[in-house]
Amino acid sequence: MVCLGNICRSPTAHGVLEKLIQDKGLSEAIEVDSAGTSTYHIGDHPDPRSIAAAQRRGYSLEKQVARQVNPNDFQEFDYVLAMDADNLQHLVSAAPGGSKAKVQLLLDYASGETESVPDPYLGGGLQGFETVLDLVEGACQRLLEQLLQELPTAVREQ
Ligand code: 4NP
Repeated sequence: MVCLGNICRSPTAHGVLEKLIQDKGLSEAIEVDSAGTSTYHIGDHPDPRSIAAAQRRGYSLEKQVARQVNPNDFQEFDYVLAMDADNLQHLVSAAPGGSKAKVQLLLDYASGETESVPDPYLGGGLQGFETVLDLVEGACQRLLEQLLQELPTAVREQ
């Protein structure tokens, strides 16, 4: 999960998908992580407003630490998911040739029309953090359905 600062949107998506995976008992089978395209907040914990909004819906973000996306991510992960069009462009440019197909928008997995998760850091008040959760929760549920189909049957049914 990748956004600009790795303190609001991608940590939220990371925490939401992590919880869905935990609830299915698949934490050993599916790894989820997040990063930012920028260096702005490396080493920081998520924004307190993101932590609080997520906590109200049962997700825990407080242990996460921001980092910048790196070339190894394109090897290690099967999906590299951008929160908005700027992140997508950055990732497509940074992805080594064979891994460009791994880069998608998270909201490609959402049922609605919205393509980008709006950045709550840049204004919009506390409602912006709820909007992030609304968009990300729906997309992560559908993404998990896709991931389940890709797991070996023995793991999926354990
Ligand atoms: P995020 O939000 O990309 O969702 O983590 C931002 C956080 C910080 C900044 C920009 C976006 N910033 O410019 O510091």
